[in-house]
Amino acid sequence: MTDSLNRDLSPFSALSWQLAMGVDEAMGDVAPDRRLSATVAPVVMEAPAPQGFSENLAASQHIAIERVLPSIPKALPLSFVPSAVHATNLDELRAELQAFEGCALKKTSKNLVFADGNPASPIMIVGEAPGEEEDRNGLPFVGVSGKLLDRMMSFIGLDRTNIYISNIVPWRPPGNRNPTDSEVAVCLPFTERHIAIVKPKFLVLLGAVAVKSLLKSKDGITKIRGKQLSYTYNDIESGAQVTIPCFPMFHPAYLLRQASQKRLAWNDWLGFIKAVNSPAG
Ligand code: URA
Repeated sequence: MTDSLNRDLSPFSALSWQLAMGVDEAMGDVAPDRRLSATVAPVVMEAPAPQGFSENLAASQHIAIERVLPSIPKALPLSFVPSAVHATNLDELRAELQAFEGCALKKTSKNLVFADGNPASPIMIVGEAPGEEEDRNGLPFVGVSGKLLDRMMSFIGLDRTNIYISNIVPWRPPGNRNPTDSEVAVCLPFTERHIAIVKPKFLVLLGAVAVKSLLKSKDGITKIRGKQLSYTYNDIESGAQVTIPCFPMFHPAYLLRQASQKRLAWNDWLGFIKAVNSPAG
């Protein structure tokens, strides 16, 4: 009881809690403060004070309520597509993302999750979006699914010193929900530029979101995983098209839920490392 009384019930903490739980849109013009409804009848701000209700009391209550209700924007801005990403190296790209205000996820996350690993590696891995652990650390794939990924990669001689890893969306979606199509759309020019800057020789896409956004594939991950496809980007200096082999894989978070699919995933990773080590690779 004491504990619940001592909890921080400020409007700010209530709002923070809602954001963390995945609320990303205000439905009404003014956010209702449910703590007031038990003690104060619904207030129409402009309504005349009821009879016997002193003007001063009405005015002070008006002010008190205004103080309690934070000024919340009518609707949190959705996103807008950046017209162009200009970065020519990773530091510039990180700075451009840090300055970018077009994705609402930035407002609810703690950190930009840019990338990890070795940018000089021929292998670039792209996942979906950071989770809680990644958001806290500012690094991709450091939570439970990252640990599974590290373990699988270790069996074929891969670790963060010889791969480079990033995500389609660099900010955590609240409550670890999937990023929406519009969130993916605003972040995609950055991800595409990221790949063009790193110039990997092999691209691994983890999960349906990465596959759908980078390959524009209508086929789901279950159908195309384990196949060697191709991904094309424009070289930043020459503008020439560069096509590289691309390997869609099950997302490790999916494998944590569907352990029976690990066998298929393991075959896919073996096929991938064989392609990397082949004389053509
Ligand atoms: N899942 C992803 O897709 N990316 C991360 O960084 C972590 C979990």
